[in-house]
Amino acid sequence: MHHFKYRGDQLYCEDVSIREVAEKVGTPFYLYSRATLERHYLAFEKALKGTSHRICYSVKANSNLAVLALFARLGSGFDIVSGGELARVLKSGGDPSKVVFSGVGKGTEEIGAALEAGILLFNVESLPELREIDRVAGLLGKRAPVAFRVNPDVDPRTHPYISTGLKQNKFGIPIEEAVEAYRLARDLPHVEPLGVDCHIGSQLTEIAPFLAAVEKVKGLIETLRKEGIAIRYFDLGGGLGINYDEEEPPHPTEYGRALIRHTQDLDCTMIFEPGRVIVGNAGILVTRVRYTKENLGRKFIIVDAGMNDLVRPSLYQAYHRIQAVERKITENITADVVGPICESGDFLAQEREIQPYEQGDLMAVMSVGGYGFVMSSNYNTRPRVPEILVTEDRYFVVRKRETAEDLMRGESIPPFLQR
Ligand code: LLP
Repeated sequence: MHHFKYRGDQLYCEDVSIREVAEKVGTPFYLYSRATLERHYLAFEKALKGTSHRICYSVKANSNLAVLALFARLGSGFDIVSGGELARVLKSGGDPSKVVFSGVGKGTEEIGAALEAGILLFNVESLPELREIDRVAGLLGKRAPVAFRVNPDVDPRTHPYISTGLKQNKFGIPIEEAVEAYRLARDLPHVEPLGVDCHIGSQLTEIAPFLAAVEKVKGLIETLRKEGIAIRYFDLGGGLGINYDEEEPPHPTEYGRALIRHTQDLDCTMIFEPGRVIVGNAGILVTRVRYTKENLGRKFIIVDAGMNDLVRPSLYQAYHRIQAVERKITENITADVVGPICESGDFLAQEREIQPYEQGDLMAVMSVGGYGFVMSSNYNTRPRVPEILVTEDRYFVVRKRETAEDLMRGESIPPFLQR
């Protein structure tokens, strides 16, 4: 459920006309709906009502300061994977005591900054990393709260690039080796093992893999408690999918109900790290048609947004719905929607049934609120596009369009090349 709807033939976000924003701000741009963001967050929260839990929104999905500030105001915690994300959380008014820090390669400085900030939990992914956290905490005179990210070897049945809980993935430690790892954590002076973490993948469209992981982790928690290691937190990561095309992922209510049922006797505070399910359908990418052409019978619609602005179609063969900002009542054509980048992989849609767009028309690429702007790059020296936040009948530019000057900042020509 989202707040992008037609009024007559015009696409609106809440009470704002997309065409009007395009005329003021220029294209391309990302645009997010506050009402949708809030609705999704609150639906997730409501689904977990009655159980001891903490929602740590996964910053990597959409890390704009305004989006983070919105979740911070709703009481959300945050799942971070870098010192940069920690800085964003702090700047947006997030509470560091509700932050969990994941990722296989945390750096010394990042660990130090998280300890100084006083985060809730480090999700540790290897023994060398545990030792490094212990060392840094010792230097700072602190004790680091840790959980191991265990790999339960469960198939999430999603795209291979976003599957993380299988044996062959780089993430976590094998669940079979976890008890040994926790014993080491118990014996080190500057870490305190308080939780167990697992995240098996992203864009899951079924509940069964989550429950399979839960069952395996439950067994581990019981064993650890018998060893005298008092586990208080069970972090199940993120991963709940959204509807992009035909998939029918479980509603958060269904997900929440199943998880509560399987964890209520565990006496743990459950931590969830949802990203996509909260922000995915709350954002669109608006782009303008530059040219249309036909090569030997194949139709191309060339737009001003490219794979540098939205990489998901090229990288994961991801499907994103395309909607006209001004609907025409006419027969559809089949065409590829491509960007201006010098690569054949630069497309937003291939062989898509679509209305016959003409030069100057606007289109909205749907469901790009998660892993959209955050994965954009400056390839081909293309400035990153603005981000707009809509609330009711107002909109705010929450990130300005970059300029070519911005992109060259920090570069220099050494004296031997100057003339
Ligand atoms: N927690 C951890 C440890 C994660 O690695 C991730 C996502 C999440 C939480 C949030 O997962 P979500 O609820 O959003 O599924 N770029 C890819 C997605 C990569 C996901 C990486 N990890 C895409 O565009 O589909």
